[in-house]
Amino acid sequence: MSKPIKRRDFMRAGAVAGMTLASAKSAISQFPNLLVQSAIKPVVVSSANGNRFRHGGDMTVVQKAFTMMVQGADVLDALVAGVNIVELDPLDDSVGYGGLPNADGVVQLDASCMHGPKKRAGAVASLEGVRTPSLVAKSVLETTDHHLLVGKGAQMFARNMGFKIEDDLNTEHSRRLWLEWKRRTDPSHYLDPKTRAEVWHREGLKMVAEGLVDREHYYGTINCNGINAKGEICGVTTTSGLAWKIPGRVGDSPILGAGLYVDGAVGAAGSTGRGEANLYNLCSFLIVEEMRRGKHPKDAGLEALRRIKANTVEKRLLNSKGNPSFGVNFYIINAKGEFAGVSMYQGPSYAMCSDAGPQTLPCEGLLQGKPND
Ligand code: GLY
Repeated sequence: MSKPIKRRDFMRAGAVAGMTLASAKSAISQFPNLLVQSAIKPVVVSSANGNRFRHGGDMTVVQKAFTMMVQGADVLDALVAGVNIVELDPLDDSVGYGGLPNADGVVQLDASCMHGPKKRAGAVASLEGVRTPSLVAKSVLETTDHHLLVGKGAQMFARNMGFKIEDDLNTEHSRRLWLEWKRRTDPSHYLDPKTRAEVWHREGLKMVAEGLVDREHYYGTINCNGINAKGEICGVTTTSGLAWKIPGRVGDSPILGAGLYVDGAVGAAGSTGRGEANLYNLCSFLIVEEMRRGKHPKDAGLEALRRIKANTVEKRLLNSKGNPSFGVNFYIINAKGEFAGVSMYQGPSYAMCSDAGPQTLPCEGLLQGKPND
């Protein structure tokens, strides 16, 4: 049976069809790029933390993922190898080892990954003791019939898969910050029924304002998506979640449609920022569906941000201008290799790597001003 012709192959065939064999050969030798012009340009996009050199490392996340991808590695293997750099970095308190712990001082990690061509996904949530939750999520994808494993079950699975289980993923830095937060807060972590203001959240944000905790690390996460020249699309998101969260809190990162969504025929989207806002609106799925209807990644992302803004009505989540008092960002690619980074407010950046090398670019912001205006 003949294989169905792919659009890309069709375009290549079409480019050559109008030529004689001799003229086609001559064109190829003069313009070696002619036949690949209609092919997809490989690209990797990620949150801005994907383009920072790490302790002792010689490549950033997007560089590593892009390099492996163009050398022929599976796209998901390349992306996960990229985010492993941040997960393993003891100086990064937003992801993996040394991530900011929960309210009990325990580092609990969430991650998901999705493979476009294989149409499979895997995720872990509230995983303790493994530095690289993205690799455990990939193991769920590769070796089980399930999508999401949580808590002790996820840890048991990781142990059985040969991952090293450690007692404590805190570094001195993350533990010191947790102690500072603990010192400041009431042990109650629940909303005051009258004000609906969380003591823990207010104090956490004060620590951000005082420069003790990087704003981006408060909900710190890395999302990384890539497409290779064959048009194969994958994505991965990994995080230590919201700093000082109630133990067991799971954010958007491991939830398909929220922290990550990939449709191999359409594109990929993933997020960083306030997970609850994203979970209420399943924005990564929304973005992929908007792209399916023909929107450019940037416009699809802005549509999701508008949805979040419209559905944010609680006073505690609004600033003095009536706009969301938090940040949320999306990193998006489509099946043509077009890409974008979008954010609730103008200001954050995102990372990308193509054959021109790695770059940090400004996100397209929905709103002017700042979350805490
Ligand atoms: N976006 C990461 C989190 O909310 O956990």
